[in-house]
Amino acid sequence: MQKDWILSPSLLSCDFGKLETELNSLENAGIKWIHWDVMDGVFVPNITLGPPIIAKSRQKTNLFFDVHLMIEKPERYIQQFAEAGADLISVHAESTPHLESVLSQIEKQNAKPAIALNPHTPLCQIEYLLPQTYMVLLMSVNPGFGGQEFIPFSMQKIRDLSNLIQEKGACVLIQVDGGVDTSNLAELIKNGADVLVSGSAFFKHPPYEKRLQEFNTAASKQE
Ligand code: DX5
Ligand code: ZN
Repeated sequence: MQKDWILSPSLLSCDFGKLETELNSLENAGIKWIHWDVMDGVFVPNITLGPPIIAKSRQKTNLFFDVHLMIEKPERYIQQFAEAGADLISVHAESTPHLESVLSQIEKQNAKPAIALNPHTPLCQIEYLLPQTYMVLLMSVNPGFGGQEFIPFSMQKIRDLSNLIQEKGACVLIQVDGGVDTSNLAELIKNGADVLVSGSAFFKHPPYEKRLQEFNTAASKQE
């Protein structure tokens, strides 16, 4: 039987000049989650967007806002992102020495707490935090830019995380972010991925309804 999975298109590859239209087209196409890549030019060598754009967009759509913070010391901005309308907030384990406290802060703001890990960061860093984590985001490229190639060892990391979650008896979603496309989708899901982020591979091939169908067809080749 096919496993349930969620596609979370990364807006990094959308046309920001017509963001409202993009959000409406995505929602009409049947997309449920949308991935916001927030970059500060310090944690990663690129700058994108902040709470005001998310807050304005919140008034235009009911999509689930999956907010990926690639910023130093995210504890300074959790309240602002939650108030802007983030449904889920991912913070990088590498960006703060106080990860447990940041997760609690997110929970208190009524958003879902998630941990993001750079490709080389070992899973042992988050072992004790799994019970209070809604989702773990595994970066399968180095964060900062869309359109990069999937790092092959990430496949093993997904399997290892899936086993760790089972061992601990925790209930945690696995998100994979970077270099996801129709050619590796089925294998990613088979290995344990629940939420797949796709930027360039999704947005480069409109219309979105047809593209979502193509992703669904690719995912169904899991057997
Ligand atoms: C990279 C971002 C990703 C990226 C994915 O730092 O976190 O979300 O936009 O883009 P693709 O799917 O093009 O690799
Ligand atoms: Zn991302």
